[in-house]
Amino acid sequence: MAKPIGVDFGATGIKVAMTDKTDRKGVTKVTRIGRRPLEDGDVIAGRIQAKKKVATALAAALDDIKAPKGAPLAIAVGGEDVAVTLRMIPAAFKPGEWVEHLRNSKTMAELSPTLRTVDANISVVPLERTANGHVVAVAGISRKLLSDIEAVAAVTKRRIGIIEPSAASLVRSLARPLVHDVAVIADIGHSQTIIACRKGPDLLWVECIPAGGKMITEVLAQQFKMSQEDAAQLKATLHAEDVDDDAFGKYDAHERAVGFMEDDDDEDVWGKANVRDIDPEDAAAQAERDQTKALTARVDELIDDIASIIESRIRDEGAPAPDGVVITGRGGLVPGTVDRMQERLRVPVHGGLPMADIAVNKFSRPYVQRDPSGGSKSYRVPSSTQRDFAVAIGAAQHPQVR
Ligand SMILES: Nc1ncnc2c1ncn2[C@@H]1O[C@H](COP(=O)(O)OP(=O)(O)OP(=O)(O)O)[C@@H](O)[C@H]1O
Ligand SMILES: [Mg+2]
Repeated sequence: MAKPIGVDFGATGIKVAMTDKTDRKGVTKVTRIGRRPLEDGDVIAGRIQAKKKVATALAAALDDIKAPKGAPLAIAVGGEDVAVTLRMIPAAFKPGEWVEHLRNSKTMAELSPTLRTVDANISVVPLERTANGHVVAVAGISRKLLSDIEAVAAVTKRRIGIIEPSAASLVRSLARPLVHDVAVIADIGHSQTIIACRKGPDLLWVECIPAGGKMITEVLAQQFKMSQEDAAQLKATLHAEDVDDDAFGKYDAHERAVGFMEDDDDEDVWGKANVRDIDPEDAAAQAERDQTKALTARVDELIDDIASIIESRIRDEGAPAPDGVVITGRGGLVPGTVDRMQERLRVPVHGGLPMADIAVNKFSRPYVQRDPSGGSKSYRVPSSTQRDFAVAIGAAQHPQVR
């Protein structure tokens, strides 16, 4: 039986992965990984905007990993067109009536604002039978996204084994070893952030925010009049943190001096202060401080949006509060993100990588780095690469794909 190929349609690229056995510690062997970049706008927040380009990129990624002919695709999708939630169906309804009942109830409107208006494909997984009825997991995907995915897959002449919410793939690939019973996973990507809550192996709810790393880069580029590339570099090197003005002793002293002059009405003194050269070191320190403040504000904004969603789920729906939060997605690699999320939510927060051992072979070679301390054959898979493939790896592990 050909192993399925996990596929993630990310905004920055198509990521594909093939997995092999999972060992007793729960670590899955990842045999092949491949990635083909997409241009900004090809996929936005999980929506396929440029079907032909996406299909070409997918076909190329599958060629790159020499995907076996008969291997089906296990596709993970996220965004407004995809939703998951737990619902109770009264015992009066027979299984054949469940979907109709859910459609007619306000469940679909609650699932996602898009699914409210778009004809959606609904699947229902029974989880538990209680005195009142059945607890079911409801997953919905808009017919538009479904048909776009089918069109893209058709070009590759491959069968779709399964399409699932990307959050479900993430639960499979990275949440298993967590000590937390109830965990929230925040996948901070480029064009969107997916927030999912899982209890044990079950996904309880999923929501998304149409903002991620791209928003941060764009704001920095605009504010500091720099290229997108420079802004992206900046957010990876600066640290999102509260800027302590006193920490910039030199600059602070200068600022105090200018402040003193400003209070003085004597034009001559003010003129003299102006003549005083600003130390280039002070100017650089000020620029870094301004950039750090701007970066921190954007990171905090995103964190606050994520926290608000979690809090409203708990408050309005009686969802269980998380024991911990896992941040994944490369947009979440901005230094300081984990600490600030922890301060905001007051539960343990950590970065999450897939429980996967990515084989260093000809397929992974373009994505792994030489370990400078090791010998010529010593390669390592950077954690950013592991994060990059977390969704595709989880999708490839779907147990029902045959
Ligand atoms: N080291 C880093 N530090 C900070 N940000 C980073 C780093 N590496 C990548 N990013 C940012 O992460 C974002 C890409 O994240 P990711 O690869 O998870 O997105 P994606 O899966 O392609 O998109 P999406 O999930 O939104 O569809 C980009 O905005 C990029 O600038
Ligand atoms: Mg992503």
